[in-house]
Amino acid sequence: MLTKKVETALNKQVEMEGYASNYYLSAASWCDSKGLAGCAGFLYGHADEERMHMMKLFTYINDAGGHALAPNIKQPPLKFKNLKELFESVLEHELAVTKSINNLVDLCMGEKDHSSYNFLQWYVAEQHEEEKLFRTILDKINLLGPDDSRGLYWIDRELAGIQPESGSEPK
Ligand code: FEO
Repeated sequence: MLTKKVETALNKQVEMEGYASNYYLSAASWCDSKGLAGCAGFLYGHADEERMHMMKLFTYINDAGGHALAPNIKQPPLKFKNLKELFESVLEHELAVTKSINNLVDLCMGEKDHSSYNFLQWYVAEQHEEEKLFRTILDKINLLGPDDSRGLYWIDRELAGIQPESGSEPK
């Protein structure tokens, strides 16, 4: 059974993952509008992953005797200066998600909620992978030069080849 504090914090995380999904959707659409089809495909796929993160939490809350609340999601940024800024803002957002997950884990520990603590370990590992992925992408953008059109072409091709991780499937 969830304590009220844990239930509220898990519902806050549902909202954050829902916002992340829309953030990626917006970033994907911006790439689409700039002819970066590979980046767009990668980001649309990531929007789906984030929705899965949200639903996994949603299901858990109800399974654990709480009440999952459909989130009130604010609109994400719609435009980006360039691809580098887009991925910098994505990484920044992922760092905020990691912080939020870490705070949730601390809370569960304090509330002696071992079940939720155990459930959240999947998110701890997932955040590690996501941070690594977006740092790698930013390194490549910086290597190729963010304003060079040939660099953009290669980045777009590179991202078209990245598949969603198998570890991110719903469980
Ligand atoms: Fe589910 Fe990328 O945070």
